[in-house]
Amino acid sequence: MKIINNISDMYEYSAKLKKRGHTAGFVPTMGALHDGHLSLVDRAALENKKVIVSIFVNPAQFGPGEDFDRYPRPVKKDLKMLKDTRKVDCVFTPDKDSMYPPGSATFVSLENEMTNVLCGASRPGHFKGVTTVVAELLNIVKPDRIYLGQKDAQQAIILSKMMRDMHFSTTPVICPIIREKDGLALSSRNAYLTPEQRDTAPVLYKSLQMAESMVELGERSAETLKKEIRRKIKEAGVEIDYVEAVDAATLAPVSAISGNVLIAAAIFVGKTRLIDNTIITI
Ligand code: PAJ
Repeated sequence: MKIINNISDMYEYSAKLKKRGHTAGFVPTMGALHDGHLSLVDRAALENKKVIVSIFVNPAQFGPGEDFDRYPRPVKKDLKMLKDTRKVDCVFTPDKDSMYPPGSATFVSLENEMTNVLCGASRPGHFKGVTTVVAELLNIVKPDRIYLGQKDAQQAIILSKMMRDMHFSTTPVICPIIREKDGLALSSRNAYLTPEQRDTAPVLYKSLQMAESMVELGERSAETLKKEIRRKIKEAGVEIDYVEAVDAATLAPVSAISGNVLIAAAIFVGKTRLIDNTIITI
């Protein structure tokens, strides 16, 4: 497993792959890796000759007062986890000054409602930071495919649109959410939870499962589903950031469940913000 920390070496590595006719699957991450990240590595290894993972805690996607400074950075452990998979050929770990050299002033931003709803409403500027860093990474790594988790559904949808709009030749592949046994979606931020908060956190997934069952039993009103999800989360004494039902392609709000609907929610368990979602297809 090759570890590359500067951009020119990364250019050279990907040029070599192209020359040899090898396909490359790319998994961008911010580190603090868990089985959710490794599921993307597994899928990338199935579909490509070479697998490249990046680890970069991207300052541009954190707002003031968010957890950039305390975001976990267990670099040694991350590298060992990746090495142990025996599926990763290269890890790209650039530093902040190479991704954003002094004076760099260009951003890539998706300028429609998609970035203002759901997580975009409570994290202004967040998706501009995400689209910018992923555009940079795609230009540096030049992969055939990029692997993204449905865990961050809005991010995956926005990045897929950014890649289409900007004519990137990379194909996005969106992979299922990996969960703990009790349903809590794996997240690097779960590490912030106290044991008590960890016991409460699965209510997020349980409320989404309840909504799925209600739809199965014939409920079609988005308002009713959102109300019931909110009720169940509040019952657990947890603060809600948002609960929304939107079109899974455009992220426009829906009033009735039909077609592909993304039901997404964000909660605060203590100070920790957790997100989860389900896509319902009727
Ligand atoms: P990060 O939070 O480290 O996540 C990296 C990738 O892992 C994302 O595509 C995310 O959706 C996926 N992932 C996280 N938890 C998952 C789970 N439980 N199941 C399946 N996939 C999961 O998302 C980012 O980093 C950043 O915004 C990034 C895209 C790297 C840009 O900085």
